[in-house]
Amino acid sequence: MIFQHDIIIIGTGLAGLRAAVECTGQADVALVSKVYPTRSHSGAAQGGISASLGNDEEDHWEWHLFDTVKGSDYLGDQDAIEIMVKDAPRVIYELEHMGVPFSRTAEGKIAQRKFGGHTRDYGKGPVRRACYAADRTGRVVLDTLYDQCLRQRVKFYSEHYVLSLILEGDRYRGVVVYDLATGELHLLQAKAILLATGGCGKIYKTTSNSFASTGDGLALAYESGIPLEDMEFIQFHPTGLYPLGILVSEAARGEGGFLRNRLGERFMERYAPTVKDLAARDVVSRAIVTEIREGKGISGKDYVHLDLTHLGEEKILERLWEITSFVRIYLGVDPVYDPIPVQPTCHYVMGGIPTDVDGRVLKDEKGAVAQGLYASGECACVSVHGANRLGCNSLLDLLVFGRRSGLAMKKAIQQYQHTPLSGDPLKTLEERIKQLSNSSGKEKVDEIRRRMQSLMMDVGSVFRNEEGLKNGIEEIRSLKERYQKIRVTNPRKAFNYELMEAMELSHQLHLSEVILFSAFHRRESRGAHFREDFPGRADRYFLKHTLVFQTPKGPEIRYKPVKITRFQPETRVY
Ligand code: FUM
Repeated sequence: MIFQHDIIIIGTGLAGLRAAVECTGQADVALVSKVYPTRSHSGAAQGGISASLGNDEEDHWEWHLFDTVKGSDYLGDQDAIEIMVKDAPRVIYELEHMGVPFSRTAEGKIAQRKFGGHTRDYGKGPVRRACYAADRTGRVVLDTLYDQCLRQRVKFYSEHYVLSLILEGDRYRGVVVYDLATGELHLLQAKAILLATGGCGKIYKTTSNSFASTGDGLALAYESGIPLEDMEFIQFHPTGLYPLGILVSEAARGEGGFLRNRLGERFMERYAPTVKDLAARDVVSRAIVTEIREGKGISGKDYVHLDLTHLGEEKILERLWEITSFVRIYLGVDPVYDPIPVQPTCHYVMGGIPTDVDGRVLKDEKGAVAQGLYASGECACVSVHGANRLGCNSLLDLLVFGRRSGLAMKKAIQQYQHTPLSGDPLKTLEERIKQLSNSSGKEKVDEIRRRMQSLMMDVGSVFRNEEGLKNGIEEIRSLKERYQKIRVTNPRKAFNYELMEAMELSHQLHLSEVILFSAFHRRESRGAHFREDFPGRADRYFLKHTLVFQTPKGPEIRYKPVKITRFQPETRVY
């Protein structure tokens, strides 16, 4: 079937929902998600949203700006970061008015806690900047925004998986979706399309990301000719629950928890003498892996301890209830009495679909705009996180740039009318699906995916080197060849997850290649990208954004400059 809307938003996390809230009422908006909306990965965000409210102690947006630029290892675009941090207090009050149940101070103000890399007075020590709702901040914001969309009767296509973007001439005009419940394909025509599909953490074996984080929006854009920016920068959150990778919020350290090695040492004192356990994530993750490599992991294994036992039961249960229950349920460990085993876990992709500050997708290094296509949230690269994101700047990014994308789309659609599409994109995709089911190939999606996930951990995680990256790229290419011989064995039409996972795997393989290719070509260490063979930052050669394009000959790399307005690059110490 064919449906028409003014605006189609793909993804129902915070960026997508916030964009929808902005344009509904003035445009016919539809939201599409491959999961039920409230299962979107934004709901897993725990620690908070950064904003220089200064409720508990002095703070300023200029300090927030500096911390974010320094956290990004000077690769973030400073004009965009300034927009984000200046808008942050408004975002928080808006959420409060929508009904988000923030935790409160004794005087009733929105409570704020410390988080990694957020400092007072340009690096003098940690500052309380993260506004939170216990350790369920993403959950309550997601539910509140979903509620706002329901109240405004926004149309939802839940459990619909987007198979392709329709590009006619130089304009994006719609999407083809696969309805999981029926197995039918539908064409959704739109005057503007927003990709808000989140990240791609499921490319890695150990990740805090949910099953849905397979990078679909990134891959759809890339396959349609849009480059991907700075994909070498993959964040490993220091404290994933060992061995599952589930997030143990940085809020645990913000509230006073700390890391210890096998010898009981608070080892972060050696790596970040000023802010210790509250250094930026890339610094803490490297420190943990270094301790483990030096044989100081607990019992000689691949983890260290996160110790909260000195915080006391009352504080732990009031502020860190959710992670406490995860640790109790999954490991049978009680954080009130015993330390938590943790290891770095793939958490976030700093790179993504290049956009301007209003969510417009950029097609090349000169900034040409892709007509009708927008991106926002983790799948986009504005770039406000550069080479390493600070905790709590993610929800802020989603809300600031989700709203701005909504504003830009509702303005842009005034100039366009729907006209009939020329090709038959449904037929092409129906044939692809038939092919997958009728293939005589013997390869299994699950086996290829597992190999890709282990490989990406081995060669593309916290530490990287030339040989590993080169071999990794070759092996991903051979996995892509094996992918050509996969067969989907489930013949059912309704809820055929095997078929959806086959489509997702194609996306993941493309993205794995782009990540390793970008990392191979960046011969320096910056933020989350650490090259053992090039351990220093090389501003002279690499203070620039990577852009990778898909071409018939394979990925092609180009670069574009970083926007520096206030802070010149300096040596980054915490
Ligand atoms: O540690 C955390 O709660 C994660 C927050 C974030 O990624 O922003």
